[in-house]
Amino acid sequence: MTGPRRYYITTPIYYVNDSPHIGHAYTSLACDVLARFKRLDGFDVKFLTGTDEHGQKVEKSAEKAGVHPQAFTDEVSRRFSDLAAFMGYSNDDFIRTTEPRHIASVQALWTRLVEKGEIYLGKYAGWYSVRDEAFYGADELTTGADGGKIAPTGAPVEWVEEPSYFFRLSAWQDRLLRFYDEHPDFIAPTSRRNEVISFVKNGLQDLSVSRTSFKWGVPVPGDADHIMYVWLDALTNYITAVGYPETSGDYAKFWPADLHMVGKDIVRFHAIYWPAFLMAADLAPPRRVFAHGWWTNEGQKISKSLGNVISPYDLVQRYGLDPVRYFLLREVPFGNDGDFSHRSMVNRVNGELANEFGNLAQRSLSMIGKNLGGQVPTPGAFTAEDDELLAAAAALLDKLRASFDRQAFHEGLEAVWSVVRAANVYIDRQAPWALKKTDPARMGTVLYVVAEVIRQVALLLQPVMPGSTARMLDQLAVAETARDFTAYGQHLAAGTALPKPEGVFPRYVDADEGGAA
Ligand code: MSP
Repeated sequence: MTGPRRYYITTPIYYVNDSPHIGHAYTSLACDVLARFKRLDGFDVKFLTGTDEHGQKVEKSAEKAGVHPQAFTDEVSRRFSDLAAFMGYSNDDFIRTTEPRHIASVQALWTRLVEKGEIYLGKYAGWYSVRDEAFYGADELTTGADGGKIAPTGAPVEWVEEPSYFFRLSAWQDRLLRFYDEHPDFIAPTSRRNEVISFVKNGLQDLSVSRTSFKWGVPVPGDADHIMYVWLDALTNYITAVGYPETSGDYAKFWPADLHMVGKDIVRFHAIYWPAFLMAADLAPPRRVFAHGWWTNEGQKISKSLGNVISPYDLVQRYGLDPVRYFLLREVPFGNDGDFSHRSMVNRVNGELANEFGNLAQRSLSMIGKNLGGQVPTPGAFTAEDDELLAAAAALLDKLRASFDRQAFHEGLEAVWSVVRAANVYIDRQAPWALKKTDPARMGTVLYVVAEVIRQVALLLQPVMPGSTARMLDQLAVAETARDFTAYGQHLAAGTALPKPEGVFPRYVDADEGGAA
């Protein structure tokens, strides 16, 4: 292993003009699973999330609510930190862009960019979308039903003319293209990488990085009429949280970040602007940006106006926290768009969690309880079939490492489930219930093999379903100290007394007989 075993992962920081919904929960969940996985695998992890609290959109929302923007953001930011706690996210820090540490950091970065000649004062005249907090070229716009101009995202744009500082983005085109070329894993999945590269190849214009027409933002050092463009402010959170402008300590330890997890809508900011800002300031760009897809609800785009926004609280109340966490990462190849439907949720919960994994554990542990005095049996010599199943389980850790390092959660979980299914086939064929009379020693061996597979599967699933797997490992009397991946290759000790087993994954029963979610 070269280099230090440290891992820095970030979620986007969430706008505080909205209540948290399934999309926010999803981005953070993916990060939580990776953070937990890496911690179990011995890495020193920093997992960052937080809120993006400046900008015209927030200023307008606060005005509408009749409160000062700070009071407004205090309230909404709390909803996001509450969601993180509710979903069991293990973030090590929660950053808010209104914090003094962040304002100091973003002003330091600005000053550095000015010193390097990367920022100049000019005048902006062009189209701006408050909803996206983004500038658009005239060629990107269409005309809406009411005659107004519309951005490619569907957001309305307005004509803006004001003095503005500009970042010399146009000068970074070739260096960015070279950077993508030299770092083929920097943007994933490939479709997004291609999108970004072709956007940059089409030519980059200098970027307006300050505004004068509203106040809610970080003041530009030395020119109090201007506040900074919210994306320059927001992206900088990733270095603030490791102590920038201090470049020793956590910065030296954790920067560059290993992964910025983002949704597909904000890949341009992370894969073009952000590395350009950093390189212009002589700071290292992050190692990787992964853009995941978007969820729809029962086939429909999720939107407030359609009234079909999925609340993570409702989902968890209905199906349970761990099943929701499992479903979101299992259902859709990570990177693709996905559809949430009640039926597919119930299929996963009842099929994979309750029937395949839950029952496997419940029936084998019950048999150990009833027939073997509730103690881990002493295995006899292993047969070829025992060895085959044990080898498949033993190989899972490396498979998961490889899949999760590519953010291919669905692939990793499918590999785990192929072993769960193989264990079900095994137990049916070995029929330990029949061996009870004919060959009790062999029954012990079979149940030992299955218990061992359950232990390994439960260890691996901890990042995805922390609560349920903890209960399962309790039932196998696995010590707290034997739950990280260094214990993966250890074995259950024969003779260990096991507590009475209890079902961990209940079946979902529709109270209203199949009603839609
Ligand atoms: N504030 C910016 C990010 C700044 S990062 C320096 C922002 N915030 S956001 O609150 O609008 O969105 C945060 C994340 O939620 C994005 O990654 C976005 O893709 C994700 N989602 C919002 N709706 C979603 C779905 N329907 N499905 C999946 N994720 C979606 O952008």
